[in-house]
Amino acid sequence: MKILAIETSCDETAVAIVEDGVNVLSSVVATQIAEHRLYGGVVPEIASRRHCESIVGVTDEALLQANMTLDDVDAIAVTYAPGLIGALLVGVNFAKGLSLAANKPLIPVHHIRSHIAANYIAHPQLKPPFLCLVVSGGHSHIIEVKDYTDFHVIGRTRDDAAGEAFDKAARAMGYPYPGGIEIDKAAQQGNKDAYKLPRPKVDGCEYDFSFSGLKTAVLNLLHNSEQKGIEVNKVDLCASFQHAVCDIVAEKTMHAAETTGYKNIVVAGGVSANSGIRARLTEECKKRGYQLFIPPLKYCGDNAAMVGSQAYYEFLKGNVAGLDLNAVASLPIDEV
Ligand code: KG4
Ligand code: ZN
Repeated sequence: MKILAIETSCDETAVAIVEDGVNVLSSVVATQIAEHRLYGGVVPEIASRRHCESIVGVTDEALLQANMTLDDVDAIAVTYAPGLIGALLVGVNFAKGLSLAANKPLIPVHHIRSHIAANYIAHPQLKPPFLCLVVSGGHSHIIEVKDYTDFHVIGRTRDDAAGEAFDKAARAMGYPYPGGIEIDKAAQQGNKDAYKLPRPKVDGCEYDFSFSGLKTAVLNLLHNSEQKGIEVNKVDLCASFQHAVCDIVAEKTMHAAETTGYKNIVVAGGVSANSGIRARLTEECKKRGYQLFIPPLKYCGDNAAMVGSQAYYEFLKGNVAGLDLNAVASLPIDEV
């Protein structure tokens, strides 16, 4: 089954064609990052406008690269939640138009489900059940993936998402948006033990995260140093910050794996591109005999191939939408 999938939840306009959930026939991503960087973050109105301008060209390119026409496609899939509402609406309405015009089924896809599905493309041997750490720009979760469309969230962030903490800490240090990758690059040159930063815990909720305390510790350190005229070694601060994030996610994920008994550990979301997190989880899983699955870098950030993958499993479960499908800005992964 060949699915044309559309992703416009944030600042990438992406279209892909994916066969049977795992075989990527084409995947095109038009990123808006350079423009949003001017403003230090994503400007929702600009994102929506750029999606409108790009979506037809990106779709044409995806069909061209797959050497297909719309007639060769079996279904249209689209990210409908969660995300920036104006941005989601562009994809949803475009997908509805294609579905109506070509008379193909319309498959609604949850964005975080699709981040997890990026792993099915990269690791065709991977099948649920497994334990998944989701670390993205807007979400941080530990999830029991019981089946392709059956999720049980056992841990979540109480405040900032991991990517949000990376981006805010980076911004305070003067790095451009999106700062996660800037911290990652700098951290590789720095001393992770140079600055003492907290590893905040959430009382009574052993799998929940709290990243805002860590981010605030960085902001306070920068502020206090400035007031005292002490120069901060940014590269060391990046390394110390990243080390703290690695400690937090590794500790919670390994603890969740031990108590739930899963031996297959999956990582998903934009922050899974982080070299420190990748190395640390590889090491921790190896020590315990767990198998670790992380997407290759091209499928860590937003793309439509992952949407096409998840859509296939949603379709098999009978999850098809009508033309009344609406975009939803906020929707838990287990309440679809
Ligand atoms: O998954 P994603 O596209 O966002 C949501 O769906 O919410 O991830 C974007 C996030 C941004 O916060 C970005 O800074 C972060 O992923 N990110 C990274 C790295 N690459 C992207 N964070 C840390 N290290 C990286 N190498
Ligand atoms: Zn995303």
